[in-house]
Amino acid sequence: MKFFVDSADVDAIRDLAELGMVDGVTTNPSLILKSGRDITEVTREICEMVEGPVSAEVVALEADAMIEEGRKLAQIAPNIAVKVPLTWDGLKACKQLAREGRMVNVTLCFSAAQALLAAKAGASFISPFIGRLDDINLDGMDLIADIRTIYDNYGFGTEILAASIRSVNHIAEAAKIGADVATAPPEVLKKMAAHPLTDKGLAAFLADWEKTGQKIM
Ligand code: G3P
Repeated sequence: MKFFVDSADVDAIRDLAELGMVDGVTTNPSLILKSGRDITEVTREICEMVEGPVSAEVVALEADAMIEEGRKLAQIAPNIAVKVPLTWDGLKACKQLAREGRMVNVTLCFSAAQALLAAKAGASFISPFIGRLDDINLDGMDLIADIRTIYDNYGFGTEILAASIRSVNHIAEAAKIGADVATAPPEVLKKMAAHPLTDKGLAAFLADWEKTGQKIM
């Protein structure tokens, strides 16, 4: 499973990238706002730091305007994936940008039917939002499973990018189902290393080691 960092915080991305944990980055207008940075400037900086796809989102609502914005965003760096919303206009923009050879990430996906349309429109990535489905008492993981089945049934190459990830379990469950990518906030990715039994075991080993009076030289 590939890990993307869902953030526009360059320090947090760098920290994870140094460990080789970053296969790509996803941003959105809310994350750009949170960064307090100019979209072009911060996206360029991220693209220089990360070799894999960096998603940058259009904000226009009409297809032609989305295509224009997508072309501008794609000029920032060769590893830009243009992110468009899963609307009819977004699908039109996806089709055209894909025709031009650009990577497109179709975002705000909440149903298997939407995911099928995105694949047919040539999306490189589909972003089903797990957490936001869980928020309304639906099961985001069921959607990942349904999309996996549909894409495998027909051999679609669109990668399933599990998004709106809020917990370590979300990542593990999405990996079990076979999502190609998980995009998660840096703090969730770092929490993957934590386990209370690891902490407890380590404390016991260190206490026993202290009693030996030895040192590793
Ligand atoms: O990748 C999409 C993500 O940023 C949305 O996450 O937690 O705002 O639903 P969230």
